[in-house]
Amino acid sequence: MTASCWYQGQPQSLPLDRGWLYGDALFETLMLRQGQFRLFALHLERLALGFERLQFAAAPSLLEQVQEQCAAIAAAHGEGDWVVRLQVSRQLLGRGYKPDAQATGVIMAQVTPWAGPVLKPGLSLDYSQVQLSEQPLLAGLKHANRLDQVLARQQYQGAAQELLMLNGQGQVICGTMTNLLAIKNNVLYTPRLARAGVAGVMRRWLLEQWCAWGLPVSEQLLYPQDLLAMEYLMVSNALHGPVPVGQLAGHALNPDHVKGQRLMAAFEAL
Ligand SMILES: Cc1ncc(COP(=O)(O)O)c(C=O)c1O
Repeated sequence: MTASCWYQGQPQSLPLDRGWLYGDALFETLMLRQGQFRLFALHLERLALGFERLQFAAAPSLLEQVQEQCAAIAAAHGEGDWVVRLQVSRQLLGRGYKPDAQATGVIMAQVTPWAGPVLKPGLSLDYSQVQLSEQPLLAGLKHANRLDQVLARQQYQGAAQELLMLNGQGQVICGTMTNLLAIKNNVLYTPRLARAGVAGVMRRWLLEQWCAWGLPVSEQLLYPQDLLAMEYLMVSNALHGPVPVGQLAGHALNPDHVKGQRLMAAFEAL
């Protein structure tokens, strides 16, 4: 008996993989500017960490394939600004949750023109009522199970541009599509991501930049009340860089800070 696949009521031959079936996949959202990927090495490092944690077979050669395919995408989009969503799924070889040890990685990329930032300086932040799931084995990875974020965006009725998500202990972990960073007394704070959250490449770059200036960083537990005591808050992702926050759940915050501006200038120069 041969297996068949039906899509929208029609038999089809679809490139099914375990990303479709179980979310058994990792992805990266990259900015491609004038044929150059921004922070490419950091994206590759996070993917490599994901391959290791999820025990993808033949990870080194898979990473090489990712680089080759990215080079081809860059060569085909040498002008203008593009967003590349690159997903590496595990190949589907049989039925059931247990992955086949022989399963290779399947690389898929979606390339769309960069339509400009949706998060702008002075943005308003609010809290999501949706609790963020915890799984230490997946914490930090950008894996393809994003239903927490889907629920958070779906359930929110307010006008804020981005939502902060808390874990079951009421600790702030990250935004729905960003990481959170804060400045106080020359320290750059960001939530610790040991049990949940995506360790963003932009978060990492900002922390490294801060350290390179000889200033201290602190990855720690942060509660909503801690945030109101900060001098300056920003959210970040690979597409937007650091974006200063002007309002948090109705409280006005100062979106200007000398060191915040220094970070933004360093990002612009990337
Ligand atoms: C849930 C979540 N957290 C954090 C980030 C920021 O990650 P990066 O800086 O790698 O874009 C994203 C990016 O899309 C995200 O979806």
